[in-house]
Amino acid sequence: MEIRTVTLAYFSPTGTTRKVLEGIAGTIGAESIQHIDLTRPDILSREIPGIKEGLVILGAPVYAGRIPVEAGERFMKLKGNDVPAVVIAVYGNREYDDALIELRDIALKQGFKPVAGGAFIGEHSFTSEETPLAAGRPDAQDIEIARDLGQKIAVKMKEIEKPSDIPGLSVPGNIPLRERHQIEKIPPETDKSLCVMCLTCVGVCPTEAITSNEEIITDTDSCILCCACVKSCPTNARQIKNPMIDRIRRWLSETCKERKELVIFID
Ligand SMILES: Cc1cc2nc3c(=O)[nH]c(=O)nc-3n(C[C@H](O)[C@H](O)[C@H](O)COP(=O)(O)O)c2cc1C
Ligand code: SF4
Ligand code: SF4
Repeated sequence: MEIRTVTLAYFSPTGTTRKVLEGIAGTIGAESIQHIDLTRPDILSREIPGIKEGLVILGAPVYAGRIPVEAGERFMKLKGNDVPAVVIAVYGNREYDDALIELRDIALKQGFKPVAGGAFIGEHSFTSEETPLAAGRPDAQDIEIARDLGQKIAVKMKEIEKPSDIPGLSVPGNIPLRERHQIEKIPPETDKSLCVMCLTCVGVCPTEAITSNEEIITDTDSCILCCACVKSCPTNARQIKNPMIDRIRRWLSETCKERKELVIFID
């Protein structure tokens, strides 16, 4: 199969998943690379045309060993029409658990033909100066592996004549999927003395949890603790003050300090 177009479809609040997908797409040799960014909430009210040709790379972060609920909902808007797909889970150096198998099955359900997969490492959303967690990843070494996967996919696609020739893709994970663990919902706070009301946080929030009046207001129930607002605030006014996240940070920085490497699945 000749791949003229690669479509990247991703949910990526802090941008690491997007970066990995761009790395993979860069070496596939397609004439065009298109983006379907599922991160912002306006995508839910938009019509997404069915994907009819080329190759799709679906990517999402790992939240508590699963694909975030919001990502799952947004992937439901895609129609695959037997187009080959690569599934990529990006995790913060703890584990990806059942996220990759979940994403593979989402791809199948939406009518794609999963042909390859991978679990990559991205800087953990909860990283901080005191407790750095996979800081700076994906780094140059990770992107090199992403580019290598892109080349392998290009070779694989040349060997395949038609989508029905694609064998089933096996990836690690459990069916039924593990239960979702809920982190106590204490959203990031805004330090009013530092906030310059630039509204960057409002624009990046994937769930419209942040609104502005005279000041920045955060809706606790809508917040998914993705940390997009924290990482994008230009004055560091957005801070997590959640004791449970502090405990998670300390635990992760103790138990997951060994660098994990990427795994790719392609026959
Ligand atoms: C609520 C939440 C739960 C997370 N759970 C996990 C996890 O189970 N395992 C892990 O290694 N990383 C976990 N992470 C870290 C993210 O998977 C990681 O930072 C990822 O690179 C974020 O992707 P993005 O930059 O595309 O948003 C979690 C992050 C958040 C916000
Ligand atoms: S991004 Fe930071 S400075 Fe800008 S409005 Fe939000 S909290 Fe205030
Ligand atoms: S308010 Fe919550 S959901 Fe919105 S960007 Fe911040 S951490 Fe993410």
